[in-house]
Amino acid sequence: MALSARDACLRTREICNMAPVVPVLVIHDVAHARPLAEALVAGGLPALEVTLRTPAALEAIREMAAVPGGIVGAGTLLSGTDVTAALEAGAQFGVSPGATDALLDACEAQGLPTLPGAATATEAMRLAERGYDMVKFFPAEASGGAPALKALASPLPRITFCPTGGVSPANADSYLSLPNVVCVGGSWVAPAAAMADGDWSAIENLARTAATLGNAQ
Ligand code: 3PG
Repeated sequence: MALSARDACLRTREICNMAPVVPVLVIHDVAHARPLAEALVAGGLPALEVTLRTPAALEAIREMAAVPGGIVGAGTLLSGTDVTAALEAGAQFGVSPGATDALLDACEAQGLPTLPGAATATEAMRLAERGYDMVKFFPAEASGGAPALKALASPLPRITFCPTGGVSPANADSYLSLPNVVCVGGSWVAPAAAMADGDWSAIENLARTAATLGNAQ
């Protein structure tokens, strides 16, 4: 069912408000999907982004969509074909490193609420004009990090961000303390080595710590 940009954005804002961190997941083995999602949800991170960068990604989304308490999205959306595949796999939201009209048209027509990416004031303004004022700031650290987002808050107070790309436990609070940051995205909560070892309790612990970030605000 089609979705307006405004309604899509309201939904992505709700999702971004669920926890301070959205795990960015690169899954190579479908067998990891379910225990990984269970560990992250148990640790307090319900909104999960599975990047469409591995052959296992769509099947992983299918597995994770069945985990109670989780909400699974598809990241690295680049085309309408990705949107169709993500929805068929059960993705409930999308994330994109940037935004094109063709991609946003596809997301709206197919009804996938999507967090589109922007790295500059102009890109963020274009998205806000279209109805998207909840935006991924990507690549966050390479684009100036927290100081860049802080500088955008004065002229663009109504646009809020999920910075992603180079965010870590060491710098997450510098983002989360800003008034225009709702949450951050990051891969650190699901290290490749812990996944390979099946060390789900380590991942749950990382998630539990991540879920407390930004509490000083
Ligand atoms: C990515 O491109 O994979 C995401 O932006 C996550 O980046 P990170 O690995 O620096 O958290």
